[in-house]
Amino acid sequence: MYYLKINGNKKLKGEVKISGAKNAALPLIAMTLLAKNSVNLNNIPNVADIKTLAKLLQNLGAKVEFINENELNIDTSKVHSTMANYDIVRKMRASILVLGPLLARFGHCEVSLPGGCAIGQRPIDLHLSALEKMGATIQIKDGYVVATVPNGLSGAKIVFDKITVTGTENIVMAAALARGTTHIINAAKEPEVVQLCEILADSGVKIEGIGTDELIVHGTDKNLLKIKSFSVIPDRIEAGTYLCAGAITNSKITIKNAQAKHLQAVIHKLESMGFGFEISNNDITILPAQKIKPCDIVTTEYPGFPTDMQAQFMALSLVAQGVSTIDERLFENRFMHVSELLRMGADIRLNGHIASVNGGKQLNAADVMATDLRASSALILAALVANGESRIHRIYHLDRGYENLEQKFQAIGADITRLKEEQ
Ligand code: EPZ
Repeated sequence: MYYLKINGNKKLKGEVKISGAKNAALPLIAMTLLAKNSVNLNNIPNVADIKTLAKLLQNLGAKVEFINENELNIDTSKVHSTMANYDIVRKMRASILVLGPLLARFGHCEVSLPGGCAIGQRPIDLHLSALEKMGATIQIKDGYVVATVPNGLSGAKIVFDKITVTGTENIVMAAALARGTTHIINAAKEPEVVQLCEILADSGVKIEGIGTDELIVHGTDKNLLKIKSFSVIPDRIEAGTYLCAGAITNSKITIKNAQAKHLQAVIHKLESMGFGFEISNNDITILPAQKIKPCDIVTTEYPGFPTDMQAQFMALSLVAQGVSTIDERLFENRFMHVSELLRMGADIRLNGHIASVNGGKQLNAADVMATDLRASSALILAALVANGESRIHRIYHLDRGYENLEQKFQAIGADITRLKEEQ
């Protein structure tokens, strides 16, 4: 086990190159189950979650080759099992993304229920009810989703009661191979969902409404897809996290290979806090604020303010002059970082899903514990401006979603090292 040691109060400067988006790469890896050819995937982030899903596909019989740490080749023509076992799924709940493709291609599958996670119960009822609408029989047996549809999935009208990112992705992939047309209403519009739809459309699946909350997918009736080589979009949450690193230390830094159009709500919020921006093509430079003003945040689905940036902005609001409010609307338990920030001297009050942050107090270094991926990045941000040497433990959470994290922070001047925990 490792921990990160961070000495705070250093200005940052320089450039960070943003990696491919974990949350785009995961559904795209699952999508290869719909292909008849071997698929080449570029700009894949070198993070633990990718390795976990690659292992799952290998367990099913797929040939998964890492050409290098950011390029994969996946051939699913020899898949001989449709059972995604608990041991892997429990490590990474997004493994549920193999459910739609496996069922659509093979007519049956057993996928372990993901179980809860630190940020909430995170049910998959919407995924399952949609597949039942498409003709599947779904049973829950010994902690597994056992899904069967001997005659193949049929297109259906699906209305999602809640906007679900992986739910939309699962159903789009299932619909791609179904017989007939599937109409998805209240679909998620995240850039990661859009890229999945674009690549499926490029592979012969007719999809209308890409980028909107209403998708119409014309299935190929089990004709496997020929999927051309593609490159994963940049990670907008990684990009937002590094923008917050520049903001919290009030430094000028540039993030390269980011897509500003995927970050509009985040950039708008940072501008409202007093920060300036220079944006050209895929480079975004954040400029220091005269005075860092507090912010009011309500997390919502894309293109609104992303829940995956909530913890980072809570850390940032600790250095704002005044009281910020943060209203977490998507997950019922996404304030795990609060107790750790309090250990550093933060003044945060919780009232249900609303946090009030009284900013401007000097933070002091402490030993803190990561609890989930994005909460962990908030602790790094706070440690960057805390007096003294902080140590962040259980950083395996970070390694799930941030590629070369300490190298990227070191490159912009942070005093951060990864060390082995004493036994
Ligand atoms: C995706 O999770 C992301 N993960 C999450 O990122 C992100 O926080 C989340 O979307 C919201 O943007 C991936 O894309 C791999 P949801 P997902 O289904 O799809 C409820 C990270 O840090 N819901 O959009 O699991 C659910 O409880 C991760 O990278 C149901 O009730 O989230 C939540 O309240 C964390 N029933 C809301 O919908 C369902 O069947 C949104 O969840 C499905 C979801």
